[in-house]
This record gives sequence, structure tokens and C-alpha cells, in this order.
Amino acid sequence: MIHSKKIELINQTAEMQKKAAEIHKEGMTIGLVPTMGYFHQGHLSLMKASKEETDYVVVSLFVNPTQFGPSEDFNRYPRDLRRDMELAKNAGVDMIFCPTIDEMYPSGFLTYVKVESLGEKLCGANRPGHFQGVTTVVCKLFNIISPDFAYFGQKDAQQAIIIKKMVEDLNLRINIRVLPIVREKDGLAMSSRNVYLSGSEHKAALCIYKAIQKVEMLFNKGERESKVLMDQAEAIIKDEPLATLEYMAICHIEDLSPLEKIKNRALMALAVKIGKTRLIDNTILKID
Ligand code: PAF
Repeated sequence: MIHSKKIELINQTAEMQKKAAEIHKEGMTIGLVPTMGYFHQGHLSLMKASKEETDYVVVSLFVNPTQFGPSEDFNRYPRDLRRDMELAKNAGVDMIFCPTIDEMYPSGFLTYVKVESLGEKLCGANRPGHFQGVTTVVCKLFNIISPDFAYFGQKDAQQAIIIKKMVEDLNLRINIRVLPIVREKDGLAMSSRNVYLSGSEHKAALCIYKAIQKVEMLFNKGERESKVLMDQAEAIIKDEPLATLEYMAICHIEDLSPLEKIKNRALMALAVKIGKTRLIDNTILKID
């Protein structure tokens, strides 16, 4: 269904806070989809879920500098506000909140939100400060937009776990929804960073999903030893000349501690560099 209603754009935090208060005053619930833009089907699935569950859908679009390391891709991260506005409008989104960097981090900004220990594992071990940047900006967005529900993708499994912990620890009255990974037809998990991949790199990146599928298949056949599962998956990544494994883990789905043997459930997560592009993916292994 194509939505013809106009979509609103707000750039200023004070105006957004005022608007959110008005919406609540009218008795409506607010759903927030926090994004860094350059929408793909994964983002659209979050907007759809919010549309179904909440009265008013806000999508924040902000390429957050504090979650990028100095040698990471902040400057070249894909941006296209016009295209994103059109996609969000067609998804039935009511408002885009697109603040400037100065609006979010005015000079003299000193306060950060950090979820200890969880943010240093897996991706955090290779991206110091990344999750502190994420939790700081998400906490600010929660305070600016006052959503009743906020929607995140399972592709960023560690991010979702950390945000849930922040919400619990800081007594934030927000329901966090985590929606399934959306994949291309060939299995590659959707990511705004997929645009960096050349044709041959895209093909090479399929080794990531192949490794996941191998682990799922062995797990479903009864294999429970993490080392056995990961050795098989690593072999698939190592077989791909354009791929470099950054990390692979089978761990507890809440505290992310490594599991030698899977009892009921586990998160299998990995980060792989294809050429210069860093991609992440994961699966939940569980006994039905
Ligand atoms: O997942 C993302 O796109 C970002 O990490 C988020 C949650 C929008 C915070 O900048």
C-alpha cells in the first residue's frame, strides 16, 4: 500500500520534544525506529512493525559520529535524505527526525551512557567506544522523542541486547522490539554498508550466511560443542579469499559470555571483512 499522507520533517530537538508531548496529550502512542538512514528492507520492516503497533511513527535519521572510530567510515557512510523520505512516506511513517550534529552534540557536551562489560565484547572488542556512542545517542533519542515502543533489528544482535539492558538499568519506560534479520534473496543480511561491495565482493560475502547455515544445520542434527560448530564455520570463511574473519562467537544470549557447550539457546555471531567492508551477521541456536 502506498501512503499519500504528507510526512513531517523536524531537525530541532526542542521542536521534536514539543511535538512528542502534543502527540501523547492526544492519547496516542509513539513508535520510534532509530536509524542512520539509507533505508533498506530491514529498516522498512521495523517501520511496518511500528505502524501496526503504534499510533504515530517517528523515524530518526542521524549518522551518529560518536559510534564511529577515527579510522571508520563516518564520512563515506551512505546518505540520501530525499530517497529515505520517499521510502518512509510510502511505509506510512508520520515523521522523520533528522537533527544536525550540533543539535545532538552542542559544544560543551560531556555526558555519555555506557553499559559496562557487554559493550566490550564481540564487536566492542574491535570497535572501542562504539557501543557507548550507540547507547548515548539512543538514550538521547528516547528522551527527545519519548517513544512508547522502539524498534531494532536482530542483525545488530549485540546492540539490541545492550539497549535492552540500558532500558532495564535506567528504568526507561520503553518497550523494545527486536525484529528478524531481513536478507537479500541470496542470503546476504541487509545492511546500508552493502552498497560498498563490488559485484565480486558481494558474491564473496555470501560465505557469511553459508557459515551460519552450516552451523544451523549441524546444530539441528544434534551437535552442541561450540568449537566443533565454529571450526566448520571458520573453514567456510577461510576458504573465501576476499574474506577476513574478525571474530566468531557462540555465546549466552543475554550476557554474551562464551559457551563451550550449548544447552538450550545460544547466539552465534560473527564479523567478517570483505575487502575493506566490515559486515556482521548472526543466528540464534535453540532447541525447540
Ligand atoms: O543501528 C543503527 O543504525 C544505529 O546504531 C542506531 C541504533 C540508529 C544508533 O545510531
